Amino acid sequence: MINDLWYKNAVIYCLSVGTYMDANGDGIGDFQGLMRRLDYLQGIGVTAIWLMPFQPSPGRDDGYDVADYYGVDPRYGTLGDFVEFTQGCKQRGLRVLIDLVVNHTSNEHAWFQAARKDPGSKYRDWYIWSKKKPKNAASGVVFPGVQKSTWDYDEVAKEYYFHRFYDFQPDLNTANPEMQAEILKIMGFWLQLGVSGFRMDAVPFVIAKKGPNQKQPEEQYSMLRSFSQFLTWRQGEAIILAEANVLPGTDMEYFGKEGERLQMMFNFDVNQNLFYALATGDTRPVVAALKATRKRPESAQWGNFLRNHDELDLGRLEKDQREAVFAALGPELDMQLYGRGIRRRLAPMLQGDRRRLELAYSLMMTLPGTPVLRYGDEIAMGDNLKLPERNCARTPMQWSTEPQGGFTKSDKPVLPVISEGAYGFQHVNVAQQRRDPNSLLNWMERMIRMRKEVPEIGWGDFSFVNTRTNTVLAMRYDWRNNAVLFLHNMTAEPSEVRLAIRESDEVECTLVNLLTEDHSQPTTDGRHEILLEPYGYRWYRVCGLDYLLKRSGV
Ligand code: NOJ
Ligand code: CA
Repeated sequence: MINDLWYKNAVIYCLSVGTYMDANGDGIGDFQGLMRRLDYLQGIGVTAIWLMPFQPSPGRDDGYDVADYYGVDPRYGTLGDFVEFTQGCKQRGLRVLIDLVVNHTSNEHAWFQAARKDPGSKYRDWYIWSKKKPKNAASGVVFPGVQKSTWDYDEVAKEYYFHRFYDFQPDLNTANPEMQAEILKIMGFWLQLGVSGFRMDAVPFVIAKKGPNQKQPEEQYSMLRSFSQFLTWRQGEAIILAEANVLPGTDMEYFGKEGERLQMMFNFDVNQNLFYALATGDTRPVVAALKATRKRPESAQWGNFLRNHDELDLGRLEKDQREAVFAALGPELDMQLYGRGIRRRLAPMLQGDRRRLELAYSLMMTLPGTPVLRYGDEIAMGDNLKLPERNCARTPMQWSTEPQGGFTKSDKPVLPVISEGAYGFQHVNVAQQRRDPNSLLNWMERMIRMRKEVPEIGWGDFSFVNTRTNTVLAMRYDWRNNAVLFLHNMTAEPSEVRLAIRESDEVECTLVNLLTEDHSQPTTDGRHEILLEPYGYRWYRVCGLDYLLKRSGV
């Protein structure tokens, strides 16, 4: 395969326009502001932006309650501003992915309003109705503790409507052919305005059969193929990055055996087990998760992330594993959410320990797939646990020591800027870290640059190298006649590992350190002995630096 699938060696940066940069001083981030930060984004080296929902919305679920799929919420700007933004990205070689939220609409969407008022409306069948409250109404809620039911009575329609998420998010009947065609139309619209694809929200629910008599979840995978075909007909490079927290066994159904369905999926299985490893030092479960999710078509790709805008969902871990992660990373009740996850940002979770933060990001960048960073992580932003639910980790970007962290000139920002304690903007901000050569920001920039120079991670085959200890993860990638090796010591103890790296055609093979001068020469028996400091990590090229000359074309 020719290696020009952009997403196989990308670095994705996720942000919300409303909390990034406010240009007009009304306290809400906007496209004009975001545009002024594109040079910053290009500077840190990310290659794609994942933009969270920005369409008109009552904003009761941070925009995931869309009221119009073909517009820009006036608080953020206009369609004109949006196109200026995608153009600005294009000029800098940045691709744009936007959220596509089509499992449900806002209850204020004109489709739902028409549907509830008139049983004869064509939109009636775009939603899921039941005359009686279905027996299983209390099961399958996604936000336990906040959401009570998946069926609620609508006074106007005089029927119950189905909502997998909050009650103000009625589910769309994606099985209706006209509704399905509308999804394609929405994709086509934004493609014309310059995006390179979509982060598709809640994919298992989008493709699930829905209805009052539906007892077991049943996915209609063929729908994914029609999405993907449409995308690539319209624009060759366009992709879908799916939010699908599913069991490893079903991943291939989402990718399709020949890669004919989705191009990318977030690797939730690895994410949860990685946090278990960060919490306990035990790498065995994450190794198992990496093995379980190894298989994927050559054109498909995993998205690897640490934290995102939602809670860190630990729902797939065993109970005692989950308890261990809670105890280590989110012991207080107000740090936890929905009985299954942690809502903190990464930096406070890891006690702001620079060694652990570097370890975590180094891991994320070297796991098989494409890394997905969250805005503010590059400067180790904190959270505000006083804000409800997931909003605690959605506070405005901290740019400088100016009032409101330089996010806005208004004194009423859309969400409070963190301004107290160790994570306050006075201490954690872009401007200061830019000036400090040893800052996390500058570290991140160097790591991103190096990550892009190691396409073996995104494209290659991986194997685990035996280190005789469960607390050091040693992964090797081979691709086109080249190999790289990554070591990560998950514990606070130093660890000496002995590795056998034998290249058939090399007599003596140096491990060339890509980040420092600390290279490793083999001992006389051809082994490497490497002393890793607490939470230490290494990026090595196996054998010399003439790899680019050795790299084969196909
Ligand atoms: C998944 C999104 O990540 C989350 O933020 C949202 O609340 C739900 N989907 C509902 O759209
Ligand atoms: Ca504004």
